[in-house]
Amino acid sequence: VVDFTSALYLGLTHASHSLRPWAQLTTGAPAALKPPPGSGQVASRLAALMGCESAVLAPSTLHLFWDLLGLWAAREPLAIYLDAGAYPMARWGVERAQALGARVHIFPHYDAGALKRLLARTGRAGRHPLIVADGACLDSGQPAPVPAFLHCLETSGGHLVLDDTQALGIFGERPETHGPYGAGGGGTLRWHGLKSPQIILITSLAKGFGVPMACLSGSRSVIGAFKAVSDTRVYCSPPSAAALEAARQALEVNREQGEARRRRLAHLVRHFRRRLLEMGLAAGGGLFPVQTLTADPRLDPVSLYARLRQQGISTVLRQGKIQQPPLLTFVLTARHRRADLDRAVAALARAAEASHNPNFGYGG
Ligand SMILES: Cc1ncc(COP(=O)(O)O)c(C=O)c1O
Repeated sequence: VVDFTSALYLGLTHASHSLRPWAQLTTGAPAALKPPPGSGQVASRLAALMGCESAVLAPSTLHLFWDLLGLWAAREPLAIYLDAGAYPMARWGVERAQALGARVHIFPHYDAGALKRLLARTGRAGRHPLIVADGACLDSGQPAPVPAFLHCLETSGGHLVLDDTQALGIFGERPETHGPYGAGGGGTLRWHGLKSPQIILITSLAKGFGVPMACLSGSRSVIGAFKAVSDTRVYCSPPSAAALEAARQALEVNREQGEARRRRLAHLVRHFRRRLLEMGLAAGGGLFPVQTLTADPRLDPVSLYARLRQQGISTVLRQGKIQQPPLLTFVLTARHRRADLDRAVAALARAAEASHNPNFGYGG
């Protein structure tokens, strides 16, 4: 089976024999009492990579969104501005904050103009504004318009909380010279060349870095305040020694081979898109490794998905927007070979022809 369902974009698998052994998988003590050995060092290296002063590790982004937004809402009145396209983890954290008294406003995905108008209409003294959005958009393959978001906060103050899960390991500095993803893999802030105490990042390492663990990064004062009062650092287990070793390894591989892996990935994505075009098909997602077949009334994604499976091609069938058909997505990683992509596109073209449609034609 050729698998297009894995988001391990850089091809990092962390087989057990590749990791340094650990004496104890978990300490049995909460992080607030006894941080797992090595966690501080991994957190500092992640903060440096992502362009932040400080960071702290957690088992998942769900822990962090739930904890950070809940704590904040319990301490001061918040006005949360939630991007309509934000990943569920962010929404779940916002829901907790709302239950604790935060006002929530939703603005159209990455539309800083609409956000600015919404802030002008609803921003009131006495409520601390928080903008919550994803660092990268899978549909467009673009990083969030962070400078424009910060500009929206210029008059009111406040913070921008970004979920940078998809960007870590892919986006990095100076894309204009190191294109198309930029260099270093440090994520959205690096892409924009930005540092700001108003920005807080919540990032899973489970995609580009292949480690099921998360990190909260930002200014020293925000991270310090979070560590001092965090509930999940008291009541939940910290990340395991296995995850910490894998994160250490991911940081090393990213430093030593990250550029080569990103270059290979970009070549593969370009090749895939070119092959699709040759077949009269197209995908959204730019050069981001998540490629979603462009909606076409002549193509039924559900039957394409099933036909591809029969031909040994495993893809992701995603829920479309409200009242829209599902979406068929190919997730590419640096482990794919060009031959895999050729096979997939040929199978897709056959499936499209068979799923039939009198008007469908490919290859001119
Ligand atoms: C933007 C974003 N945030 C958070 C997550 C969840 O991360 P994890 O799988 O580590 O729980 C995902 C997973 O796809 C994601 O895309």
